[in-house]
Amino acid sequence: MQTIVVRGGAPLQGEIRVAGAKNAALPLVGAALLAAGTSCLHGVPSVGDLAAMRRALTELGVETTPRRGDGLMVDASRVTGVELSEGAVRALRACWLLLGPLVARFGRAVLPLPGGSAIGARPVDQHLKGLAALGARVSLSHGLVTVEAARLRGGAVIFDVPSVTATENVLMAAALSSGHSTMENAAREPEVEELARVLNKMGARIHGAGTATIDVDGVDELRPFEHTVMADRIEAGTLLAAAALTRGDVLVQGADPEHLTVFLDQLRAAGVKLAVEAGGVRVRGWAGDTLAPLDVATQPYPGLPTDLQPALLPLMTQARGLSALHETLFENRFLYVPELQRMGADIRLDGRRALVRGVARLEGAPVRGRDLRGTSALVLAALVADGTTTIAGVDHLDRGYHRLDRKLKALGADVQRAKGNP
Ligand code: UD1
Repeated sequence: MQTIVVRGGAPLQGEIRVAGAKNAALPLVGAALLAAGTSCLHGVPSVGDLAAMRRALTELGVETTPRRGDGLMVDASRVTGVELSEGAVRALRACWLLLGPLVARFGRAVLPLPGGSAIGARPVDQHLKGLAALGARVSLSHGLVTVEAARLRGGAVIFDVPSVTATENVLMAAALSSGHSTMENAAREPEVEELARVLNKMGARIHGAGTATIDVDGVDELRPFEHTVMADRIEAGTLLAAAALTRGDVLVQGADPEHLTVFLDQLRAAGVKLAVEAGGVRVRGWAGDTLAPLDVATQPYPGLPTDLQPALLPLMTQARGLSALHETLFENRFLYVPELQRMGADIRLDGRRALVRGVARLEGAPVRGRDLRGTSALVLAALVADGTTTIAGVDHLDRGYHRLDRKLKALGADVQRAKGNP
């Protein structure tokens, strides 16, 4: 058990490069399962969720081999099973991304239901509805879902909600099917678009990814691929927020302003000075002496990402006045708020809304992260707190960020990793 120890106060300075996107790499590893051969990914972030995905693939007989730097070879030529263990799915819900590829290529998959996670109930009905629309038979027994189809066929899928991983799952399945599929109310996240780009490289015929309507002409076979994973927009946003919070001057290389439009608009509205430069986005301190309060809600893409609300809230604690942050996607995404309250933040939780009164001086305290993005909020808040903050629950952080603490340290933050709990 490790902790991160932060002594607040240092403004961040310098340049930092974001890693490849975890949420793009996970479905791409799933896509590799669609082809009999070895696919090669570059820019795969070295994070806990990818390690968990590799363990799940091992259960299926898929070999994954890291390559120099951040490469990963995925050899799906000798798949030996189509069932995932409960341990694999409990360790990583996104293992469900393997469902579509397994059914499309092998005609059958057996997966434990994921159950909820710390941030909410997180149902999988849209994944199953989508595959059923492509002709799959779905049965449920003793917590196990079996999905079967000798050959998936084209179909019309209308999602009730735009789900990122359900869209990705059904997209992968439709790519390797017979006939034409349309997906309506599809998720529009850049990671969905990236997956479609890679599937097309593999020989798929997909149009419209990145919009709410995706058309797919199924094909009989897909080829292995080589691809460099897009930069992580959530890590980019987290680093920009850290720089903004400390009133620093930081160039975040790889931050794509087109993927962060609403988030950057909110930073500007708060009074953070931003400059779009070649290859990244720079924070240049604040326009005035204080930050302005914000009133925002998370939305599916292109709205404010739910994964970045924990990066925005610490800024609200430093703004003059009352801010409101409404979480519309997950019912339990404010687990980090009581920990920020321990640090002196003035936050009232009203259901899915957090009301934040700045300007409170935050004070260092022992705190504990309970989910991935919530833990990053604690690290960010600690950067501007008086004294020392000791953050436990670092394993949550490491699921999605490759050594966030090391990157912050490279920018001048006083951050250490230590063994043991506070
Ligand atoms: C993905 C991201 C996660 C991000 C989330 C929302 C990955 C691996 N994870 O998660 O980091 O926080 O998108 O941007 O890409 N829903 C249903 N039924 C379903 C599926 C989802 O009702 O079958 C609901 C969810 O409860 C939620 C909403 O749809 O309210 C969006 O969730 P979804 O897009 O599915 O999140 P994930 O794909 O799990």
